[in-house]
Amino acid sequence: MEFLDLPPLVSARGTVRLPGSKSISNRVLLLSALADGVTEVRDLLASDDTARMLEALQTLGVKVEPLGGDAYRVQGCAGDFPVREADLFLGNAGTAFRPLTAALALAGGSFKLSGVPRMHERPIGDLVDGLRQLGADITYLGNEGYPPLQLKPATIKSGGVVKVRGDVSSQFLTGLLMALPLTGVETTVEVVGELISKPYIEITLATMARFGVTVARDGWQRFVVPAGSRYRSPGTIYVEGDASSASYFLALGAIGGGPVRVEGVGRDSIQGDVRFADALAQMGAVIEMGDNWIEAKAPAGGLMGISLDCNHIPDAAMTLAVMALYADGTTTLRNIASWRVKETDRIAAMATELRKLGAEVEEGADYIRVSPLEALASPPEGIDTYDDHRIAMCFSLAAFGTALRINDPKCVAKTFPDYFDRLATVTTAVPVIAIDGPSASGKGTVAARVAAALGWHYLDSGALYRLTALAAKRAGVAWDDEPAVAAIAAKLDVVFEGESISLSGEEVGEAIRTEEMGTGASKVAALPAVREALLFRQRLFRRAPGLVGDGRDMGSVIFPDAKTKVFLTASVEIRAERRYKQLIAKGIEATITPILQDLRERDERDSQRSVAPLRQTADAELLETTALTIDEAVAKVLGWAQKAGAE
Ligand code: DC
Repeated sequence: MEFLDLPPLVSARGTVRLPGSKSISNRVLLLSALADGVTEVRDLLASDDTARMLEALQTLGVKVEPLGGDAYRVQGCAGDFPVREADLFLGNAGTAFRPLTAALALAGGSFKLSGVPRMHERPIGDLVDGLRQLGADITYLGNEGYPPLQLKPATIKSGGVVKVRGDVSSQFLTGLLMALPLTGVETTVEVVGELISKPYIEITLATMARFGVTVARDGWQRFVVPAGSRYRSPGTIYVEGDASSASYFLALGAIGGGPVRVEGVGRDSIQGDVRFADALAQMGAVIEMGDNWIEAKAPAGGLMGISLDCNHIPDAAMTLAVMALYADGTTTLRNIASWRVKETDRIAAMATELRKLGAEVEEGADYIRVSPLEALASPPEGIDTYDDHRIAMCFSLAAFGTALRINDPKCVAKTFPDYFDRLATVTTAVPVIAIDGPSASGKGTVAARVAAALGWHYLDSGALYRLTALAAKRAGVAWDDEPAVAAIAAKLDVVFEGESISLSGEEVGEAIRTEEMGTGASKVAALPAVREALLFRQRLFRRAPGLVGDGRDMGSVIFPDAKTKVFLTASVEIRAERRYKQLIAKGIEATITPILQDLRERDERDSQRSVAPLRQTADAELLETTALTIDEAVAKVLGWAQKAGAE
């Protein structure tokens, strides 16, 4: 299974530009083309559907000029497309096919509209029926009720009532409504059947309003496009970002200090999920809004639990369930029965994963109640994501305070492929100083002293391999039996407490320091499955305020994002001498020649193995200690760390 290990986060601050919403992108492009004046469209989503719409508009003679990035300048044609005869290929873009059919049928001209085979299986009959009531001349070129279509010039009737079905796709109503201002007369649209996907009609009406056309409506049954309606360019228009995606970043600001600003949704948003910001404010977060941005900061007194009816923000409310872990008091999210029928049963999934973090969770048919935690318990098996992009994104918040493994993280591609990269740009992780080097180089002593000087945690990663070797020996497992040793490594029951290390309750601080266990460690450390089994365990040592880790692969594999990386070494002769003195000081009998021989063999094994071999990475500082005292070496590392912290 693929996974992503998030480092423990300490703070969040910065700005994120959200990816644009697809539905809004294509509506805005069409209305910009139909409007009077020039429109600068910003933050357009780059996707197949928007590419088809852009191509179609250009074929119709609309001047569309890319301005770089996600911005375009559209020269509106005031309802008169310069080209009156064209063959348009619209791929599988429903958000282009339906509205263009309506607009071209009413604008007049000879147009053939077609798409990929799948597009020709998607119904359009209800929209064609509506347009025919207005006098449009539309012929099915294939199957009755389906694309491809041939439109011919026709006399469009003035006004009256058009009936359209609303229970198959809301895009038929959207297409009609967006096209009707081209007639210039008052027209009433009556919806037959229960209208589905109402929030999309809200988006249609709001987008039309931005272009100067206000539709009067009577509930969801009757819509009146007034006489004299004309689209006028709003000048510059921003395509809103996905408001549900905004919730993760606003939550980051509320938990991690902030301010975190999302650009792409704001005060005038036409998406229901922006009301997530109100919920955040209720939890105590400090929210500020502009036309096209929202910003969240943590409250001085900490976040508070809330009880909220979340019917209006079903997707964004998932974010609140994870935020509840950091709030004071219980949080209850009510009226969320729809969670049960989404990508997965989201109530069950959230409850299961929150419990893995140690939270107390109560779930009902349509609610979830989450109590906060003193400290998160990061599950070694990781957070499961159920092929649900929103589960993956909202659980990333639980990395505040602990390293966290997210399983199958690529499910975020559904709406936000680079989510985790963006997350990294606005968060700061617990700092790490990674010190790697060969055996007996003195890195352990230096690392422990640096940690003490800074008041940080210390990870002696070699001890984990030594413990694995010892545990394997005690279990009668050979050091080259990869699966068996890996299973032992995965289940090591070890407690580090200052100088003391206990394995299954027994003190082994001394027992793992023998030359035999050093050799055993070097052997088991060459087994990929063993390294894999110990990977996350090592990452869990990273806790605030910071970690100094020593080993062979701290900077290259375990903490590749460490700001300070040191490769600490010394000649093999001086290392043998140091090891000899160490052993003698402990009252252990020793002779220098076998130590030297053993170190050479270990160097060879540690640097020649196929996984995580010992090597100096390009971004590591070289600390050659042959001629340095321990104090001098410690001072060097502290100097580099200070420089890295100041950057
Ligand atoms: O640092 P040490 O002597 O306690 O390490 C014992 C062995 O463990 C060493 O020979 C190689 C292995 N090791 C490793 O492969 N990766 C680490 N990060 C630390 C140690």
